[in-house]
Amino acid sequence: MMAILTNLLIAIGLQILLLTIRVLCRRRRIPRIPLRLPSFAIWLWLILSSLPDSLVALRFRPWLDSALLLSQSYAALQLLVWCTLEVPGSVSWWPRPPKILRDLGMLVVAAVITVMVLQEQAKINVVGVVTTSAILTAVIGLAAQESLKDLFAGIVLQVDSSFQEGDFISAGNGIEGWVVSLTLMSTRLQHVHGALITLPNSKMWSTEIRRFGPRGPIAREIHLNLDLDLPPEKATTVLTEVARSNPLVLSDPEPTAFVYAYADHAITYELEVWQEDPTDNGFDVLRGQLLAQIWYALERNGRTLPYPVRELRPKARPAANDDPAGYDLPSRLDLLRQNVLFGHLNASQLEQIAPLTRCIRYASGESIIVEGDQGDALFQLVRGRVEVIKLMDDGRPKTVAQLGVGAIFGEMSVFSDHPRSASVRAIEECVLLEVERDDLRPVLEGNPRLVEELAQLVSERRAQLISLSQEVKQAQTNQLIHQMLQIFSNLTGGDADERPR
Ligand code: CMP
Repeated sequence: MMAILTNLLIAIGLQILLLTIRVLCRRRRIPRIPLRLPSFAIWLWLILSSLPDSLVALRFRPWLDSALLLSQSYAALQLLVWCTLEVPGSVSWWPRPPKILRDLGMLVVAAVITVMVLQEQAKINVVGVVTTSAILTAVIGLAAQESLKDLFAGIVLQVDSSFQEGDFISAGNGIEGWVVSLTLMSTRLQHVHGALITLPNSKMWSTEIRRFGPRGPIAREIHLNLDLDLPPEKATTVLTEVARSNPLVLSDPEPTAFVYAYADHAITYELEVWQEDPTDNGFDVLRGQLLAQIWYALERNGRTLPYPVRELRPKARPAANDDPAGYDLPSRLDLLRQNVLFGHLNASQLEQIAPLTRCIRYASGESIIVEGDQGDALFQLVRGRVEVIKLMDDGRPKTVAQLGVGAIFGEMSVFSDHPRSASVRAIEECVLLEVERDDLRPVLEGNPRLVEELAQLVSERRAQLISLSQEVKQAQTNQLIHQMLQIFSNLTGGDADERPR
């Protein structure tokens, strides 16, 4: 009786010790000590040691002793792995081996222990039985075929580090979720709707797995059609602004939008945004919000979503003075009046020139003028901004000026017949009034003052480009006036040599 009481106290003591260590593990955030198997071993030992010999038939004794020894060995093995691999690995004393290798190692050691215990205690020659029984071997081989596939796939998945516990993965056919565990035979996923999905490792190995890491961010692409009349620059601005203002969209990497394709009745855009939540459900929510918000943003900008309307019209050649950007003649006349060069021309001169001009539109980033090209048109900036870029001697491009609404550029080649002195590129969407050299001939006729003003502007800019002194600049202006009068000589009706040099 005394012995039973002592054993009971020992069992309770050991159980309390296990529970205390378990609580400490949770507090210190180290892997929890195995509880089930050691507890089972303790209580089995208590029960078996308390059983009087008279209660157990002699022939059952070896079996009970084997069961006790096996449970104690397995428990000891688990505790050994816990304190030599898991705890040191979690506090980075030494690297933790892949879980699957650890499990496999434990399986092999447990198998060896089982064989030894059965052989020693229960006097069963397990190896002999298995190796001599051809039928048994065949049965086990066939039955284990699928399991072996899972086992090897599990090993490869772990060693290959295709994904880790905690990652969000998508395994095709709508199967996606966070990896809860990757064991010898199967992988468990926690679906976003809460369900626990268990997949055999062989299936995981044979499907394409998309891994998103434990926490996003993840890129989302949304395609949508917008009106053909809405200029792409404006459309992409609206789309990115809507995306930026949505709290589900990450600001880094920032949202981008661009033209994706031209559809029948619309322009298709792609809006790319980054989101923290990698789930399909998260995407559905975000897409729903963005599409709704884009509708309102378009309405605020006086636009609607395109209707699937088909307009049938005979293809007509555009009239010669049809304006590509839709600026009619009075608007272009108005623009010419505001032009620093042509502002002081009289009404009839302006009316003469206006029908020959046209307004054209450039997207942000487009090159309008390329340095070194021949040029026979000058431009007035009606909307937007451009930058003037000059190639330096070492071949590097340098921005020498930025021009805004009302500025003139491209005049240097037009009036000097030299190649373009610099490149000009749109910084944002631009509308330009284009005036060709030939269109100027009628107004330059008999207008030396205009010629001089233009020459002045050209030399100013050239001086800025190559840092000329004041005297050289004046000499160049005179030379330019001479050149210009020669270019336009047949129409100015005067003798070029009468002009200042
Ligand atoms: P062009 O040489 O025909 O082509 C390039 C144009 O860039 C040039 O005419 C000018 O209109 C413009 N440009 C060159 N240098 C400057 C400058 N320093 N400031 C403003 N515009 C310039």
